Amino acid sequence: METAIVAIGDTDTSESIDEKLSMAGDIIRRGGLVAFPTETVYGLGGDALNPASSRKIYAAKGRPSDNPLIIHIADMAALDYIVGEIPEKAAKLADAFWPGPLTMIFRKSAVVPDQTTGGLDTVAVRMPNHPLALLLIKKAGGYVAAPSANLSGKPSPTLAKYVVQDLDGRIDMILDADGAEIGLESTIVDLTGEIPLILRPGCITQKMLAGVVGETDMDVTIYDSDTAQAPRAPGMKYRHYAPQGELVIVEGEPQRVVSYINAQAAAQEASGMRTGVIGTQEHLAQYHASSVKNAGSRSDVHEAAKQLYTFLREFDDEEIDCMYAESFRDAQDEGFGQAVMNRLLKAAGHRVIHV
Ligand code: TXA
Ligand code: MG
Repeated sequence: METAIVAIGDTDTSESIDEKLSMAGDIIRRGGLVAFPTETVYGLGGDALNPASSRKIYAAKGRPSDNPLIIHIADMAALDYIVGEIPEKAAKLADAFWPGPLTMIFRKSAVVPDQTTGGLDTVAVRMPNHPLALLLIKKAGGYVAAPSANLSGKPSPTLAKYVVQDLDGRIDMILDADGAEIGLESTIVDLTGEIPLILRPGCITQKMLAGVVGETDMDVTIYDSDTAQAPRAPGMKYRHYAPQGELVIVEGEPQRVVSYINAQAAAQEASGMRTGVIGTQEHLAQYHASSVKNAGSRSDVHEAAKQLYTFLREFDDEEIDCMYAESFRDAQDEGFGQAVMNRLLKAAGHRVIHV
């Protein structure tokens, strides 16, 4: 299949943007697939109410079809049609955080095909905060199923070039435009029970949610790899974002972390391996490795969040064998560090060394 790569940038007028998004919307209406930017990561969009489109999404990503998709909407009126009921707490959260990086789980209505929800009787819904995404959703008929636009097992794409790397030849169109300034996928909250349950941490933190709806719970499987329980978000059980080399997270007093990583890296480089480090600004100059990535200051994890998936893909391109990352467990950021740590743990296969 020929994939049209359509750039939208500063030289575009509102007419030319409208024209390009009309083309993209038509593709989705006719059952095709279009990758598009959102404020979190790029999504791979298809018509959420067309079972054949959902099947195509799974095929294009190489994703297991029991892993449900998020339906993206552009206005509140669209929500009524696809969910059984809107709990009061969900309405409050939508009011506070939509459009934005929050996905909510509802009981689904009969119009949502089983193929889109992986056979579940619940449905995940998000209204993204990105002007092109919102316009595309409207042009596509209002209901766009969109997982992250990566091949299954790769990091979610934060740049169009990574979408091209993964999906060129497998989908109809890729919209190449600015976006993904958050860099990590949306927070997922299950609203089907009395107490909202966080299934995937993200930019909307537990504290922010609690400020609107009071008590919330966190799925225990998010941090504990040893638990026998299956995660409540089916996608969280898969090994994700795994780089080709081996990634280890190093925790402890900062100078001990630097010394440990440098000693390991020196030994590995001496034996012919290539090493990489994801470090924070405060300690960056002290690291010696083939590739040292700057995750920004420890006092603001937004830069780390934004860059993490790019770093993992760059390490692969640079053929790095062994990678080390500082831990973000104690980041002082009111909770966003949890999301960074959750993705790092998955990328590292939960390998953490305490020094
Ligand atoms: O930021 C995001 O959410 C991005 C952008 C494109 O919007 N999308 C995204 O989709 O991350 P995806 O498919 O890569 O991740 C969706 C996650 C999966 O872990 C899936 O198992 C979970 O949401 N999920 C979807 N529907 C669910 C449901 N009904 N119940 C529980 N978990 C669900
Ligand atoms: Mg994904």
